[in-house]
Amino acid sequence: MSQMSGERPLRIRAVTEEDLEADLPRLVRLDADAFPHGPYPFFVLRQLVTTCAGLVYVVDDGTDLHGYVLGTPPNDAQSWVCSLAITPGLRGKGFGRLLMTKLLGQLRVKGAHAVRLSVEPRNDSAIALYRSLGFVPDPGGPRADYFGPGEDRLLMTLTP
Ligand SMILES: CC(C)(COP(=O)(O)OP(=O)(O)OC[C@H]1O[C@@H](n2cnc3c(N)ncnc32)[C@H](O)[C@@H]1OP(=O)(O)O)[C@@H](O)C(=O)NCCC(=O)NCCS
Repeated sequence: MSQMSGERPLRIRAVTEEDLEADLPRLVRLDADAFPHGPYPFFVLRQLVTTCAGLVYVVDDGTDLHGYVLGTPPNDAQSWVCSLAITPGLRGKGFGRLLMTKLLGQLRVKGAHAVRLSVEPRNDSAIALYRSLGFVPDPGGPRADYFGPGEDRLLMTLTP
């Protein structure tokens, strides 16, 4: 993908161990912008990125990151998408879909048969994206207090 952010070309790349020290503070900032009411703390994001090595993709303009997605390695052929975020100014241009497509392809290569995720039940744009990729909501609707009191989440699954 070679779209421009201002003057800078954007590309999607995997986060590697060598990039981690430079990428991590940018990921933390990006996550806080995308999830102002509940970003991952720095240490959680570091541990997620480390345990999900090879399954973290970013939108990079050469100096900063504008989106990321993070999936878990398959366990019993099941993976989770733990985060997807595009920086506010770049939404609606296809990068969320690109990141998801990249991750889902890699999860398949690594042996995932089912991919799960949770989403805030009123997050219509994210739910529309997931549905269009084939994710199906769990029967029974959103799970009450899934992430703590008042934090309901809809769980969705993609199967082959
Ligand atoms: C959800 C999010 C990642 C989508 O990324 P994006 O780059 O804006 O999405 P895309 O441009 O790739 O659009 C993909 C699909 O999402 C849906 N979508 C995107 N924006 C939408 C909007 N404003 N309203 C309704 N659907 C929308 C559409 O189905 C769209 O498909 P289409 O282009 O074929 O119509 C982005 O809005 C975001 O970062 N939101 C804040 C963080 C968040 O909520 N993350 C998800 C947590 S579960």
